[in-house]
Amino acid sequence: MRLLVTGAAGMLGQDVVRAARARGWEPLPFARAELDVTDAAAVEAAIAAAAPDAVVNCAAWTDVDGAESDAAGAGAINATAAGVLARASAAAAARLVQVSTDYVFDGERGAPYVESDATAPRSVYGSTKLDGEHAVAAAGGSHAIARTQWLFGAGGRNFAATMLALGAERDEVTVVTDQLGLPTATAALAVALLELAAGESQGVHHLAGGGEPVSWHGFTLEIFRQAGLSCRVLPCTTAAMPRPAPRPAFSALASERPETPRLPPWQDGLAHYLERRKVHA
Ligand SMILES: NC(=O)c1ccc[n+]([C@@H]2O[C@H](COP(=O)([O-])OP(=O)(O)OC[C@H]3O[C@@H](n4cnc5c(N)ncnc54)[C@H](OP(=O)(O)O)[C@@H]3O)[C@@H](O)[C@H]2O)c1
Repeated sequence: MRLLVTGAAGMLGQDVVRAARARGWEPLPFARAELDVTDAAAVEAAIAAAAPDAVVNCAAWTDVDGAESDAAGAGAINATAAGVLARASAAAAARLVQVSTDYVFDGERGAPYVESDATAPRSVYGSTKLDGEHAVAAAGGSHAIARTQWLFGAGGRNFAATMLALGAERDEVTVVTDQLGLPTATAALAVALLELAAGESQGVHHLAGGGEPVSWHGFTLEIFRQAGLSCRVLPCTTAAMPRPAPRPAFSALASERPETPRLPPWQDGLAHYLERRKVHA
């Protein structure tokens, strides 16, 4: 299986390439320097030349707060480029797995979101990612849209890495208690994305770490517990820590589709992540 990966130097992209290799597939990794997904002609040429069986789009504008002041920049990558990739993939008879986000929801439901729930993004980032989903669906090719959330992995900046650094140098940190979700290890997500790439199911799939939803505060407690850090974790509210982009309050993702791959509990993903950090320390 030839798997073309865009955004291949990103946190998730690196794990998708690694997982493909581990599965005996032939990964065709394109980092941003090798393929800028906003260059439509380059995307069409790369996909036509590579003739992949499937494409996983890990390229994205992921600066959630920065998107609020550059909607055009975020939309060019998250929406327009996703459509170009989808049409080029369809033309090459390659299946596309498009990675999307829990930020397509407003977080007001109060229970985990399933695939058929109505979307209502609260941020520019969420809106551009939803536009990307629509562009992929409209291209009409074989595709899966994988919504995920709260990613952490060895290959990039993320909340867990930030907390591990703070927890090692401070006596206490203050973390919000009123945003809940499911932390998701990119290593586990990558394996699930390959399942989707190998399958034939159309449309949206929700892929997040298994187990019970947790707040960022609760996630931090578990990070410190597993890492053996004695740093105190003080609670605070989102209102006390304003950011440019509003975040959904409760955005845990669950799946109502039997064919959607299920991920292991997020606590196991965290343990695996901490092991990997030790190996590479
Ligand atoms: N991180 C999360 O918590 C989270 C949650 C839900 C969904 N997601 C989704 O998961 C996917 C992967 O995110 P990630 O966490 O791995 O983020 P990431 O580490 O920021 O990776 C994104 C990659 O896309 C690349 N990129 C940006 N603009 C590009 C362009 N024009 N052409 C080609 N590549 C470009 C970036 O390159 P540069 O670094 O050089 O700009 C980066 O390597 C994204 O679709 C994101 O929306 C992430």
